[in-house]
Amino acid sequence: MQHSPFKNDILKGKVALITGGGSGINFGVAKALASHGADIAIMGRREEVLKVACEELGKLGVRTHYRSGDVRDPEACEAVVKSTADALGRIDILVNGAAGNFLCPPEMLSPNGFKTVIDIDLNGTFNMCRHGYSYLKQSKGLILNISATLHYVGTPFQSHVSAAKAGIDALTMNLAAEWGPVGIRVCGIAPGPIGDTEGMRRLAPGESGEKIKKTIPLGRFGATEEIGLSAVFLASTAASYITGETLVVDGGHWLTKPPLVPRELVEQMVQKSKS
Ligand code: COA
Repeated sequence: MQHSPFKNDILKGKVALITGGGSGINFGVAKALASHGADIAIMGRREEVLKVACEELGKLGVRTHYRSGDVRDPEACEAVVKSTADALGRIDILVNGAAGNFLCPPEMLSPNGFKTVIDIDLNGTFNMCRHGYSYLKQSKGLILNISATLHYVGTPFQSHVSAAKAGIDALTMNLAAEWGPVGIRVCGIAPGPIGDTEGMRRLAPGESGEKIKKTIPLGRFGATEEIGLSAVFLASTAASYITGETLVVDGGHWLTKPPLVPRELVEQMVQKSKS
């Protein structure tokens, strides 16, 4: 990792388990944690993707482990947690990144379509937290839930994902309150539009990506590395008193609206008021 402000061994001795860690933002998180010394386990549905990802992570000099499975299946979650602890000895950081998304107006979405996204994002997060609990209690570890900013406003075609992510944020706060006393911190990261990811290909097809870019105050898409470094920060001792918080990493995207009146007109009005 080239631009990290952190020392490269701050997570040495820690083990991170990342769902959906074989690709996209979650692979960026895996790389960042590994670049700072953490051993990495990843879970996902596609074994071949996990295998290739682990080969790349291994080049960073850390131990790696993968196990395929679907976070919708509580038994698969139990199995990946156990096999991670067996292979790498402990679990300190659980990153719930596995997610499903597609654009769909609510009136066209089937009940099963809605349920599928809730199952993957929200129920999958709960399943992993529940099975990770005893290991994280032992290590006084961190749960990091990958959320979104969609549900801060009404985001068209995203009712299913907004509902799931709102539930995840509620879980983040609730588990932080309930598991803080046993030493587990629970935080979230809410990424905005992150370039070169499956999510962006699905949610910003065609030329819509360029239009979105113009609405981001920082004027560009984020990079997976920037989400990764946010995860490193939250996993570091710099964040040891932070829990229940979801960190928005979106270049200011969600809180911005296009101006209702053209800037030129406003400038003219200001000039006029001064003359
Ligand atoms: N629009 C509307 N409905 C859709 C849809 C779309 N683009 N894609 C799937 N659905 C519906 C299906 O029609 C089905 O409902 P039905 O039984 O009433 O027809 C339901 O969702 C489940 O679809 P299925 O393809 O069987 O689910 P799956 O478990 O194989 O896949 C998804 C899960 C749908 C979330 C799939 O998009 C996926 O695997 N995504 C993972 C990767 C991803 O989304 N990454 C981006 C993260 S931001």
